[in-house]
Amino acid sequence: MKKLLCKKAAEVLEGLSYEQLMDLVEMPADEKMGDFAIPCFTLAKVQRKNPAVIAVEMKEALSVHKSVLGISQLENVGGYCNLFVDRETFTQHVLEKISRPNLGISPIGTGKTVCMDYSSPNIAKNFHVGHLRTTIIGNSLYKLHEKLGYKVVRINHLGDWGTQFGKLIVAYKKWSSKEQVEQEGIDELMRIYALFSKEAPKNPKLIEEARAWFVKMEQNDREALAIWDWFKEISMVEFERVYEMLGISFDYYLGESFYRDKVPALIEELQEKQLLVESQGAQVIDLSPYDMPPCLITKSDGGTIYHSRDIAALLYRKANHHFHKCLYVTGLEQTLHFKQIFKAIELMGYHWHADCVHIPYGLVSMDGAKLSTRNGNVIYAEDILKEAIGRALEAIEEKNPDLPCKKAVSEKIGIGAVIFHDLYNQRIKNVDFSWEDVLSFEGTTGPYVQYTYARAKSILRKNGMQNLPSDVDYRCLVDDIPFTLVKILMGYEETVCNAAQKYEPSILAKYLVTLAAAFNRFYHECPILNAAPAERNARIILVDTVQKVIKDGCALLSMECPEEM
Ligand code: ARG
Repeated sequence: MKKLLCKKAAEVLEGLSYEQLMDLVEMPADEKMGDFAIPCFTLAKVQRKNPAVIAVEMKEALSVHKSVLGISQLENVGGYCNLFVDRETFTQHVLEKISRPNLGISPIGTGKTVCMDYSSPNIAKNFHVGHLRTTIIGNSLYKLHEKLGYKVVRINHLGDWGTQFGKLIVAYKKWSSKEQVEQEGIDELMRIYALFSKEAPKNPKLIEEARAWFVKMEQNDREALAIWDWFKEISMVEFERVYEMLGISFDYYLGESFYRDKVPALIEELQEKQLLVESQGAQVIDLSPYDMPPCLITKSDGGTIYHSRDIAALLYRKANHHFHKCLYVTGLEQTLHFKQIFKAIELMGYHWHADCVHIPYGLVSMDGAKLSTRNGNVIYAEDILKEAIGRALEAIEEKNPDLPCKKAVSEKIGIGAVIFHDLYNQRIKNVDFSWEDVLSFEGTTGPYVQYTYARAKSILRKNGMQNLPSDVDYRCLVDDIPFTLVKILMGYEETVCNAAQKYEPSILAKYLVTLAAAFNRFYHECPILNAAPAERNARIILVDTVQKVIKDGCALLSMECPEEM
């Protein structure tokens, strides 16, 4: 609407371009000041005129074209020209737009590919809450981009290579068995790995042996790779359980190991471009001119490392997917790592280094306590999800024991609650996880938004689902309360665009809470099913539009909405 207004206003206001108007036009928080306001202070400076005089002239110029502009009323307040939209036209425009396919959202990403690297847990380690965050944020960014027409390639860059696997093989051979690993899964691998870390300082031979096993892996030794592969399989079973609960899948599982054989070509290229220097036997890229520590490419024993495998992966992705952007969702602590990687790509002469984006997020704590492996205070993602489902089921038993399909509903609520809680605050902020905040049915939570959806659906069911009125008198929606809702609905497309472009699903989560709150106010203050026919029809259409937007928005956060709860 703002765009439309500015386009038309630019045609009638001399000396003001569309772009200038887009910069200038505001949407006042106080509705009494108009739906749009044009402040004339910067213009006053340029034109050396009193802003109030300019505002009056502007009002006169625009008044002549009221109907073309979709404006019903204009006012001058000080240096402002305030515009009140024609509510009927506006409402019709918004509700018709959202009724179109894809809720009227333009596919601005058509023809562009975005590679997304997220989740990417480490083999033989538990899938903890930190990985839950990258998984949830990454998946929402995937859905947001897809909604806008981008082709998204979802890549799980598993941490499946490194010296730790040499240690694990030694530990397995010494302290575990096939049966034990099969039975206990990752827990057993974590147990023996911890044991190794404890024993190694006392027994240097262990380190030697571990090193030897890793060398074997790097030399493609059959036995070594078979054990490693099996550890990977065991781990994947557990990761898949989490992905299934969250309804998440990937286009590629290409772990770090996949890029090992691509590192030699990288080294050759770096040598050719004279970017490699030796440092204590290792090969590095000197980044001191950029105030960064050197980027390690090979270790002194010639082996590859996290950094070189990541650079090789990025070159591989560019060559195979010709991406418009390549996004990485990881914890904030990896910021330097990605700066180094992207700098290396730049130094290699690739202009597209600017299309690579690290999307960091903050730490997770539990009831105020920091989570770490060392003090054993690790929270498994799977346990959190299960607990959330269990608590949701308890709440249903207490509040609505006759609800059909309780189990399925409790899954949607429990999982939705965890996801929403994770996404509600800016991703860079730390998240403190407290069950009360997560599962509350009031306030800024997933269940609150889901409940609002269920409420809207229940109204539509009572109205008779098939009976959506075809002919609507939009004049019935021009009062403040329904019209506020219409204005919020208008902002949906912009919200989706912003959330995708800023890599910030919280923008959408906050929007959904605002929409839900406005809907609930409307629900409490305006009778729907008992209203006179014309009003009832119009309100039903509004309810239907709200329910569509909530469902669509939740889906973009990877949350499902139960029809009843
Ligand atoms: N496996 C890493 C971790 O758990 C995350 C990998 C992120 N992706 C990447 N291409 N480096 O911290």
